[in-house]
Amino acid sequence: MSHIGLRYGNGPEILKDINFTLQPGSMQFLTGPSGAGKTSLLKLIYLALQPNRGFIHLFGQDVSISSRDELALLRRKIGVVFQGFGLLGHLSVFENVALPLRVTGKKHDDYKDDVKDLLQWVGLGKSLDVSPDTLSGGEKQRVAIARAVVAKPDLLIADEPTGNVDLQMGKRLMRLFLELNRLGSTVLIASHDLSLIRSVSADVYTIEEGALSLNPAKRPRGKK
Ligand SMILES: Nc1ncnc2c1ncn2[C@@H]1O[C@H](COP(=O)(O)OP(=O)(O)OP(=O)(O)O)[C@@H](O)[C@H]1O
Ligand SMILES: [Mg+2]
Repeated sequence: MSHIGLRYGNGPEILKDINFTLQPGSMQFLTGPSGAGKTSLLKLIYLALQPNRGFIHLFGQDVSISSRDELALLRRKIGVVFQGFGLLGHLSVFENVALPLRVTGKKHDDYKDDVKDLLQWVGLGKSLDVSPDTLSGGEKQRVAIARAVVAKPDLLIADEPTGNVDLQMGKRLMRLFLELNRLGSTVLIASHDLSLIRSVSADVYTIEEGALSLNPAKRPRGKK
């Protein structure tokens, strides 16, 4: 994205002249104080918001001149973990996670074992058939993460994906993101969690006062 500016209504400009490129296959963190604009920047990338100025190219395509159908296809390449999770209460945990596979036309028998394995991995193997409405915040977060990664999206965007879980589970979820990245997905994670950020080798972007700055990849501590 280049020269991006964003404001809500007549409010102040939240993002000012943001220039940002996600290298395909890279792993990047986005950090910054609460209210700095992390969620807003992610929404621009997954096309839930339009900028007031500037250009966004997604998978090489200028989204401002793309048709609705083209945008819908682009969105299918992106897995998103929202800050508010965005789970569907009238579907079971299993059905929520299977949704991205169903919309691409996959058959239940072909994906059911993968979905069960993934839910097992995030510690929800016993909650397949319940509504996400009955789960705790951390459990909902894990369902949202499973749904975002299940179709191995080209781009994974996660907004505070470990905000509601304990350290142990946070590390486990991080391993899931790393594995997805290893398989070729580009991963962008907004997080306040410095211990999480320091635990992996990734570029760290910081938003502050509407501007973005980069701290280049750091080596995980304790490793050469
Ligand atoms: N829908 C909206 N309408 C008006 N203002 C908004 C809206 N969404 C966000 N804002 C404002 O934009 C600014 C950036 O919000 P944003 O949610 O992007 O921050 P953030 O960095 O994700 O914060 P946090 O770490 O608390 O999640 C804030 O000042 C917020 O009040
Ligand atoms: Mg946010």
